[in-house]
Amino acid sequence: MARDKVILAYSGGLDTSVCIKWLMEEKDLDVIAVVGDVGQERQDLEYVRQKALEVGAIESLAIDMREEFVDEYLTKALAANSMYENKYPLVSALSRPLIVKYLVDCAHEYGADYIAHGCTGKGNDQVRFEVAITSLDPDIKVLAPVREWDLLTRNQEIEWAEAHGVPVPTTKESPYSIDDNLWGRAIECGILEDPWEEPPEDIYTLTRSSYEAPAEGEYVIISFEEGVPCALDGKKMSFYDIIPQMSEIAGRNGFGRVDMIENRLVGVKSRECYEVPGALAIIEAHKSLEDLCLEREVLHYKLGIEQKWADLVYNGLWFSPLKEALDGFCASTQKLVTGDVRLQFYKGSCVTVGRRSDYSLYDYGLATYDEDDSFDRNSAAGFIDLHGLPTRVWARQRRKTGQEGTV
Ligand code: ARG
Repeated sequence: MARDKVILAYSGGLDTSVCIKWLMEEKDLDVIAVVGDVGQERQDLEYVRQKALEVGAIESLAIDMREEFVDEYLTKALAANSMYENKYPLVSALSRPLIVKYLVDCAHEYGADYIAHGCTGKGNDQVRFEVAITSLDPDIKVLAPVREWDLLTRNQEIEWAEAHGVPVPTTKESPYSIDDNLWGRAIECGILEDPWEEPPEDIYTLTRSSYEAPAEGEYVIISFEEGVPCALDGKKMSFYDIIPQMSEIAGRNGFGRVDMIENRLVGVKSRECYEVPGALAIIEAHKSLEDLCLEREVLHYKLGIEQKWADLVYNGLWFSPLKEALDGFCASTQKLVTGDVRLQFYKGSCVTVGRRSDYSLYDYGLATYDEDDSFDRNSAAGFIDLHGLPTRVWARQRRKTGQEGTV
């Protein structure tokens, strides 16, 4: 009788390689490995694909997800200026639902009842994988081998791998756990687990230290059309092409490092380092253009929506009705976010120094203190009178009860 099948999210590392053998031997399943290309650096995906077959997978697929990642995921993330805890632009949290979408498609195509991932039992990614899987197909059964064998030490895992013929990397392992894609890199573990230790230079690959950044700084103009980046310094380009270019410019000027203590969904505070030069610069520019083009109440209301959006996506609820509804709100706000922003990079900083748009709501006549002033000061007096009415009534009442000036 044919064995049941499992689709495995495969990365080519030791953990997911051991997963292949473990699923075959412990669960008696045929393994189909799926490697997603979401723009991670230094990865020969054909090599990774072959490796899964060598370990024992009956089928192995490398799927290019990069354009979809930009068009469907990063575009929405940018519309929501998404930053978890105001600092982390959701690098890993954004790729998981996309990878899951392909895993579920493959499960349907190959008639697999199971999907497996190689996440540990302590992080957010296990939640993201599993919640996204069940949101797309509630009947698929999830297997989490690494969580099941979490009791193993690294050495025990290596022994198991050697005993079962899984190739173990001979080069010295990096002490860090790294996840990366087009939007940036997430670095954890090793010395970083001590929150007092300064992150060593060798964790970074996209950014220079600001000490090493050139003394003259650099300007760049980024243009947006309906909220989506569409040109750099006047040269038309897709959002997809703008990301690495912006990352390069920001990175060489020492901008784009984040070192934070983050609250994971599973309740743990963890020390996280991110390298996100392109993402942070693009979000900064996008916000600056929104400041110019969005009506005040929309802009203020959107800040709350953005925070909720980031929380939902961080917490694995990409495929959920609230997240979809918030996307609808954000998309409607982007219709007039068209224009240019000039960024200045200088030794680790990135600031907006200019913005313009055909849809600008900035009115020189209203804002200026020069003679062109068209603002009606007389209406200001009446406005203040009514705006302050409730607190004036309150102050009188406090005086009557002898508690003037106190809340
Ligand atoms: N803490 C981040 C998040 O939850 C990054 C996790 C990335 N995973 C890793 N293996 N480094 O989104």
